[in-house]
Amino acid sequence: MSNGATVGIHDLSFATTEFVLPHTALAEYNGTPVGKYHTGIGQRSMSVPAADEDIVTLGATAAAPIVARHGTDGIRTLVFATESSIDQAKAAGVYVHSLLGLPSATRVVELKQACYGATAALQFALGLIHRDPTQKVLVVASDVSKYELDSPGEATQGAAAVAMLVTADPALVRIEDPSGLFTADVMDFWRPNYRDAALVDGQESIGAYLQAVQGTWKDYSEQGGRPLEDFGAFCYHQPFTKMAYKAHRHLLNSAGRDTDEAAVERALGRTTGYNAVIGNSYTASVYLGLAALLDGAEDLDGQAVGFLSYGSGSVAEFFAGTVVPGYREHLRTEAHREAVERRQPIGYDRYRELHEWGFPTDGGDHPTPAGTTGPFRLAGIGGHKRIYEKR
Ligand code: HMG
Repeated sequence: MSNGATVGIHDLSFATTEFVLPHTALAEYNGTPVGKYHTGIGQRSMSVPAADEDIVTLGATAAAPIVARHGTDGIRTLVFATESSIDQAKAAGVYVHSLLGLPSATRVVELKQACYGATAALQFALGLIHRDPTQKVLVVASDVSKYELDSPGEATQGAAAVAMLVTADPALVRIEDPSGLFTADVMDFWRPNYRDAALVDGQESIGAYLQAVQGTWKDYSEQGGRPLEDFGAFCYHQPFTKMAYKAHRHLLNSAGRDTDEAAVERALGRTTGYNAVIGNSYTASVYLGLAALLDGAEDLDGQAVGFLSYGSGSVAEFFAGTVVPGYREHLRTEAHREAVERRQPIGYDRYRELHEWGFPTDGGDHPTPAGTTGPFRLAGIGGHKRIYEKR
């Protein structure tokens, strides 16, 4: 490390949507045995945004408690990671900066590489803090995952935002060097600019993810990383929670280790609680895995955690963190449970209506139907400009 400072995640807060669709409702509608969802892919329900929620309102809702606890002093950078961008030019983080009242002396930028973007943002933040340990970086990972109705991907939709304050001498997790890196040009999942819903080759995407796991681990080991046995838990990107199990078994197999089921469950089971009920939150997913792990009952003081971040297309990174002794005093467990439990269950018809809802593109004034009970809302669009407000 350049100046000897320990750097990492000082605070973490997440937000999710107003509505939730249980997989039982989807299964009933499309005639799928619900076991395929509950057991086959490991999902129970998916977060569904109200018409007046988007990546900005979710991101601001996740980040507001961090600003309330720590103030804005020292925050000179806000990095917004997303793959469900709302503008081709303006960073969504600029709206968040305004909604949170951050100082004008802040740099704001948006990063994209499918679900990997938040890890790029975290690594960018760590680099800035190594350069000047007095600075803090607000990383916001926010996404709404959307596939075509009646497609195989539909059951893996979801939406959430995770905000992390990245600092020197962090209270939650110290992030270590080295990282294992892997990039391959594959068309497993993509979303052309003119489309609202992603395109995906499901089986190819699973294969590409597994190839990336093996590639990152190989590079991580060659860079002098920790042995597998050091890790108490692994936070994987979870497009659906069973994917983490496929990935971890593949990692163990390719490293010549046993895939003892009890050990796999011990390494992963504590990381899936939020993802199983929220669904795929793309960039936020791996850090929702971390939130579930930290918010769990077990004391993790001093334990090493492995992170595997995968973004289709594809880019992946494996890195390690150490849980800081005393971290439990800094958690937001109650608020996180409340964010999940406050969602209003909706039926299939309402979900379908929301899935198909969109603004006219004629440049006129179009208020958004009221839906969210959260602190921020997308009030409408006028002259092609999005209008946000605090509730
Ligand atoms: P599918 O083809 O409809 O499902 O869609 P399936 O037939 O593969 O079944 C899924 C599992 O359920 C199987 O288990 C079945 O055996 C089981 P597996 O063999 O995999 O262990 N099953 C049952 N289990 C219990 N009771 C039953 C039952 N029936 C079947 N009755 C697929 C699955 C994941 C392909 C689909 O949901 C999809 O296309 N999802 C979107 C793509 C995706 O999530 N890919 C993951 C890797 S890529 C990634 O993570 C990146 C991503 O997040 C995007 C980004 O980076 O931005 C997606």
